Amino acid sequence: MKVDVLLGLQWGDEGKGKIVDVLTPKYDIIARFQGGPNAGHTLEFEGIKHVLHTIPSGIFHGNVINLVGNGVVIDPVIFQKELEKLEPFNIDVKNRLLISKKAHLILPTHRLLDAASEAAKGKNKIGSTLKGIGPTYMDKTGRNGLRVGDIFTPNFKEKYNALVEKHVGILSHHEGFEYDLKELEGPWFEGIETLKALTAVDSEHYLNQALKEGKKVLAEGAQGTMLDIDFGTYPFVTSSNTVTAGTCTGLGIAPTRIGKVIGIFKAYCTRVGSGPFPTELEDETGEAIRKEGREFGATTGRPRRCGWIDLPQMRYAIMVNGVTELSMMKADVLSIFNSIQVCTHYLIDGNKTEEFPFDVQDANIVPVYEELEGWNCDLTALENFDTAPQALKNYVTYLEEKLEVPITVVSVGPDRKQTLSNH
Ligand code: GDP
Ligand code: IMO
Ligand code: MG
Repeated sequence: MKVDVLLGLQWGDEGKGKIVDVLTPKYDIIARFQGGPNAGHTLEFEGIKHVLHTIPSGIFHGNVINLVGNGVVIDPVIFQKELEKLEPFNIDVKNRLLISKKAHLILPTHRLLDAASEAAKGKNKIGSTLKGIGPTYMDKTGRNGLRVGDIFTPNFKEKYNALVEKHVGILSHHEGFEYDLKELEGPWFEGIETLKALTAVDSEHYLNQALKEGKKVLAEGAQGTMLDIDFGTYPFVTSSNTVTAGTCTGLGIAPTRIGKVIGIFKAYCTRVGSGPFPTELEDETGEAIRKEGREFGATTGRPRRCGWIDLPQMRYAIMVNGVTELSMMKADVLSIFNSIQVCTHYLIDGNKTEEFPFDVQDANIVPVYEELEGWNCDLTALENFDTAPQALKNYVTYLEEKLEVPITVVSVGPDRKQTLSNH
């Protein structure tokens, strides 16, 4: 069997949680491969909204295994809170939630280092979610990190203390940065006990064996392609590979095992945190999208920056991920407009380009738009794409032609049911 992948093509928050939840009945295993509690994946059904940070978005379906892969970083405190929120739903987490022994741990001092680093950057700050993601991946690649498997070893506390000592040394260089580590450590060690009671596995063996047995696996991405450490708008990115290749390293899956790659995008575009965003609308149109789309971060509550869809950016993301099909989200949000703009190319210093440039931060980019007719009617009760307004069908066909990938899902509201199949 192959592993299908679902990942974000923009700057995150495309609606990954919702679509993973919708697709879960087709799979046996849902596996997160990177990122950590910087993610906020929302799903809605039966009138209840759930936000997951580390736990895969297949957790609400019985009989499906949810696996946190080696590429993920885990904060035991946030993980414990997520588990507590699941308690009313009687989910058998001991058997249905598996955690890779190779996943790295976010220490309280990683969170402090994140905050100190952002404060030191001043106006150049990344706009990090301050969950300790960057410092934890730094310790991973710096070969200092602590992993889930370490919590079962007798000298775990010693390893912890040695790493904390290093961190305290670094923090001492940040003048005026104050913290109370003891206060943070209590809940952290409580969270470690919770993790110990769950099921830690050699996830690469587990997954490859499952594939051999014919099990179906969906890999769930976090963040989005433009936040990828290599291909995103560096340095305003996260610290992991959010692209398809991240599935291989984050789960121990060979490239030849990758099946469908489902790229998910909003019918417009958003970004939260700092960094370049060529089609950003800093005007009343952007404000209208934010209001209609309720564009506020699921993890931090920060207002998301809003703009029109950007085809050079989308083509770039489709290219690096090898996207085979697309899911278009939040079409209902654009119902407020009589006409919709699509950025077809850029002018950089007066020269036309359809490529996403290296120096996107400093380049003098002028996005050039094509205007399309809006549908200007409520889509949220639509049950079938065939009965969608012609202007929406035209928008979908236009994007399919420009992006050369079929749009197989069109989402018209946050609920599971507000999901239309196309083709
Ligand atoms: P993720 O990080 O990719 O899982 O996305 P988030 O959960 O951070 O943000 C997506 C937001 O849009 C959530 O509040 C979802 O409930 C909501 N959402 C998802 N699909 C749709 C849709 O088609 N229409 C509307 N109006 N909201 C949607
Ligand atoms: P999901 O999975 C949107 C952004 C932050 C910041 C940058 C680096 O919900 O789509 P980090 O905390 O990783 O050091 O932050 O990346 N960011 C996200 N933006 N959605 C996310 O996740 C994000 N995770 C990180 O705002 O700009
Ligand atoms: Mg999100």
